[in-house]
Amino acid sequence: MNTNNKMLIGMHFGNGYGSQAGSWRMPGVNPESFTSFDEKVKHAKAAERGKFQFLFLPDFPGALLNDVETESPNFNLDVMMTLAAVARETEYIGLVATGSTTFNEPYNLAKQFKALDIMSHGRAGWNAITSSSGDVAAIYGKRLPSSVERYGQAHEVIQLIQSLWGSWGKNAWVHNQETGQFAHRDQITTIDFKGKYVSSRASLHIPPSEQGQPIIFHAGGSPNAHELAGRFANVVIGATFSIEDARAQRNAFRESAKSFGRNPDEIKYIPGLMTTIAKDKRTALDRRIQLSGHQFPQRIGYLQQMLGIPLSVSALDKPISTALLNSARPSLYDPRSLNALKIAKEGWSLRDILAHGVIDYHPVIVGPGIEAADHMQKWFEAGAADGFWLSPDVYVDGIDAFVDEVVPVLQQRGIFHQEYEGKTLRENIGAPEQYGIDPRV
Ligand SMILES: Cc1cc2nc3c(=O)[nH]c(=O)nc-3n(C[C@H](O)[C@H](O)[C@H](O)COP(=O)(O)O)c2cc1C
Repeated sequence: MNTNNKMLIGMHFGNGYGSQAGSWRMPGVNPESFTSFDEKVKHAKAAERGKFQFLFLPDFPGALLNDVETESPNFNLDVMMTLAAVARETEYIGLVATGSTTFNEPYNLAKQFKALDIMSHGRAGWNAITSSSGDVAAIYGKRLPSSVERYGQAHEVIQLIQSLWGSWGKNAWVHNQETGQFAHRDQITTIDFKGKYVSSRASLHIPPSEQGQPIIFHAGGSPNAHELAGRFANVVIGATFSIEDARAQRNAFRESAKSFGRNPDEIKYIPGLMTTIAKDKRTALDRRIQLSGHQFPQRIGYLQQMLGIPLSVSALDKPISTALLNSARPSLYDPRSLNALKIAKEGWSLRDILAHGVIDYHPVIVGPGIEAADHMQKWFEAGAADGFWLSPDVYVDGIDAFVDEVVPVLQQRGIFHQEYEGKTLRENIGAPEQYGIDPRV
């Protein structure tokens, strides 16, 4: 199925509250959402109402203790448990969890992801990442291997896992009650994989799902990431701030896919987008101030570095003077600086500049739905994105705001699907058939 003329939409599925530090305290939010699987199911259903193709669950084990005195940890209790709960209560939306190729046993990953794929009737995706933090390594009592070693291992782990997924032949399971034959033993292969980093002799006792096996995702932007994803991934979760960089990233992944003999359309590049959608700009900015305004005073110092001009916490409610703005030197080290200067030159107060999310992790839309739709269309049509992964500010009403205010506009413009193409993630993202390893790579 070709979905190239339509964008994909995924949604960050994090701690149960939303992407902003203050989301757990917003009116209407259940403060126990962090542990409530009922809340998580509700949010997944809201995303499915909007026909989003997938939920994306990052995982940074151990990196949870940000400022738990006042903020929720950023991640899920457990990505696989969460998706198991969501799988049973949803029908179409893809379920994509992060799993490290450095700090997991391949056989365990293979088993869990294929079981999730069976449970969800073919909606599982595995975001195969290498982990890049010493803190994560410490959890496992290990040192962080070098990048060359981590990526070397990642190539082997994905190959081994895909071989295990294909080890139970597609038609091996007959379960014929009359003849008494349960399975064709001769169609179940023993994988004997001996790599430099990982080895396994095993077959995996799990038949194919409706989509065969889970889809490979990857998140990263380095040349190593281009190579790994170009070889194995159907979707890349990205993080970038400009159309130019996004286009360059997307092209790098497409070129890499080509070098492995694949059709570049088989790999979709999906950068992030954060949203605060409200009826007008002022309401949206005020919502942002309510959500994260308490952090603004300490962010002034960083904004000052981004713009290269002195700023004062005591002037939070004043615009930056024209004279100062004319002397601004946007930082070459932070790709968000040009946008911050552009917003500042529109005459907003310091508080409102920060409320635009100029120091957030992805491009941010704070305003009416049409602004999000325009941004998405522009990037999509510029060849900078095959879709977006959204981080709504507060799940309890921020998902609905996007579904009601942005999705219909994208559909009217003919760049987002009206209905799910099918029930599997493979169908809904337009990924080709695959069972076991891809013989081309
Ligand atoms: C959008 C995005 C999401 C990521 N999500 C995760 C994650 O959930 N868990 C994790 O350990 N690393 C995550 N990473 C980090 C990457 O796996 C990778 O380690 C990092 O980009 C450093 O790249 P390098 O290892 O190629 O140097 C993410 C990276 C990006 C760009």
